[in-house]
Amino acid sequence: MNYEEILNKLTTELSAKRLQHSRGVCQTAVALANRFGANEGKAKLAGILHDCAKEITNQESLGLADFFGIVIDEVEKAVPVLLHAKIGAQLAQAKYGIVDEEIQQAIRLHTVGGPEMTTLDKIIYLADFIEPSRSFSGVEKLRKIVEQVSLDEAMIAAYDQSIAFVVEAKGLLHPATVAGRNSLLLKKRKA
Ligand SMILES: [Fe+2]
Ligand SMILES: [Fe+2]
Repeated sequence: MNYEEILNKLTTELSAKRLQHSRGVCQTAVALANRFGANEGKAKLAGILHDCAKEITNQESLGLADFFGIVIDEVEKAVPVLLHAKIGAQLAQAKYGIVDEEIQQAIRLHTVGGPEMTTLDKIIYLADFIEPSRSFSGVEKLRKIVEQVSLDEAMIAAYDQSIAFVVEAKGLLHPATVAGRNSLLLKKRKA
């Protein structure tokens, strides 16, 4: 499927609000791809598709995870909404014909992050945070930081924000988020 076909299909799958968010992530990801030297076409497709599984019910998510052979860790079991990233990567292929593994991986890592992220993965992670329709407290500050610093520094700031938010809400931190942040801090110390 090309971008227009994917967008048309997503219009029937997602709420208007989610679609607006996805378009925002898509636009922001394209801009970041230009700035940080990633493939613009891949950023566009990963951005529009990243939340393609977000409106699936928890019960359906667990069924789909089983169907796709996705291994569910204990944090995902307790917080099934996290699974929309892994399921979204599978649906990108099964429903939207995306066979490109870099696009699939960017979708898979967009929610919790991780220690081994490509430039495209980081761009989608950041775009998800700062796209224009986001309105959480601190979003303006994060947008400014992303504008001014390197990709890895922007990721550290986004991880900080994400971890602080989860801790404040007394939520479960996913180990991949901590591992992702640690890996960037360790890389800085070695530099
Ligand atoms: Fe998401
Ligand atoms: Fe999102």
